[in-house]
Amino acid sequence: MNYQFPEGFWWGSAASGPQTEGVFEGDGKAQNIWDFWYEEKPEKFFNGVGPDKTSRFYKKYQEDIQLMKETGHNSFRTSIQWSRLIPDPETGAVNPKAVAFYNDVIDGLLANRIEPFFNLYHFDMPMTMQEKGGWLNREVVDQYVFYAKTCFELFGDRVKKWFTHNEPIVPVEGGYLYGWHYPDEVNLKHGVQVAYHEALASAKAIEVYHSMDLDGEIGIVLNLTPTYPRDEQNKADVEAARLVDGLFNRSFLDPAVKGHFPEDIVNWVKENDLMPVTTPEDLKTIAENTIDLLGVNYYQPRRVKTKESPVEIAGNTILPEDFYDVYDMPGKKMNPYRGWEIYEKGIYDTLVNLKENYGNIRCYISENGMGVEGEERFVNAEGMIEDDYRIEFVTDHLKWVHQAIQEGSQVQGYHMWTCMDNWSWLNAYKNRYGFIAVDLDNEAKRTIKKSGYWFKALTENNGFN
Ligand code: NOJ
Repeated sequence: MNYQFPEGFWWGSAASGPQTEGVFEGDGKAQNIWDFWYEEKPEKFFNGVGPDKTSRFYKKYQEDIQLMKETGHNSFRTSIQWSRLIPDPETGAVNPKAVAFYNDVIDGLLANRIEPFFNLYHFDMPMTMQEKGGWLNREVVDQYVFYAKTCFELFGDRVKKWFTHNEPIVPVEGGYLYGWHYPDEVNLKHGVQVAYHEALASAKAIEVYHSMDLDGEIGIVLNLTPTYPRDEQNKADVEAARLVDGLFNRSFLDPAVKGHFPEDIVNWVKENDLMPVTTPEDLKTIAENTIDLLGVNYYQPRRVKTKESPVEIAGNTILPEDFYDVYDMPGKKMNPYRGWEIYEKGIYDTLVNLKENYGNIRCYISENGMGVEGEERFVNAEGMIEDDYRIEFVTDHLKWVHQAIQEGSQVQGYHMWTCMDNWSWLNAYKNRYGFIAVDLDNEAKRTIKKSGYWFKALTENNGFN
């Protein structure tokens, strides 16, 4: 069968500033929570590798843009680092070296006919803002809006695709439940306030963007994780799955697309004494400023069942999983090189859900990809990584994306995570995702993997057979 994609389909990859640029503080970047956390607790990071040892995009961006071209990109997403652009949010002074850098990146991409997609917040709270409480503090929302406006003013003439956040649920889970992000607390009430402020910040940035009448569009990137009950016929399982879907997906998807928080989740938050501080004006802002375009990150589904042995729920230390159990489905397909499930149809189910329940919002796959631990073992005699498993992974997901498009979903592109192997937070370089390998022991030398050449052919044909 021939899988052809619509004309003008965006093919490319996604990355983020904090995961690729490197620190280079001499150029005026201030600390963000990752720089700080690494300084404080380097042992938390896999093999002790910190944010200063990313793939050095800050120095190598010109080479990287050429490699994007060689691997068939017509679009690429990264994020601006707030702490690089505005090192001191109190004064709001812009760092000229950062402006020059992002200008060069944008111009370099455009000169090579690669459409820049820019995201504003990818887990990288400036430390000065974190000291005030980060997303917990309402004032930080205003600082973020100022940062967003500055970005639109500086770069909005050339960047036409903007995103307010990447995976905003992750700073909630990571920072306030499970210890993967600073401030490493367990406090769901704080997590709920953080989520609310992120959603508000997003709506406010959208409001500013639209008021500027720039010729472009703005949205949000969400990791939508389709959530399946163990047994469709079991009411308690179905309810558990609905709650989990609400907490992890709809809590951001509904305000972004529909302009309000999901009623069942608001009730759940109230029942569990987790209500954040809100104002009627904020809710109006959220209602009136929904997204133009949705980025969908998809990696794996969630499978849940009803809580089999209920736990004592105690104040702020409650966790979402006090209300459900994870269901380990027998025979599920696993990524053999990283413990994640592979369920290709999940991408289709997500797109169908958007079509049926979210007004068929225009969207694109903003991340999808396969992490592999110890990928060096697949290097061939010529020094190239033969990542056939990645080619198979992407092909199998694209078939389902194609199917959704055939049935009317408005999917406009597919970005793989990621281009160059990059630094992934506490996991550092543990799992490699790129279609270009990065040799950390050799000046971060880049080598295209087999999947990179395959991707080029795919994009040149706008599909595959
Ligand atoms: C999603 C996130 O956006 C990105 O930062 C992360 O590295 C990848 N997933 C892989 O885990």
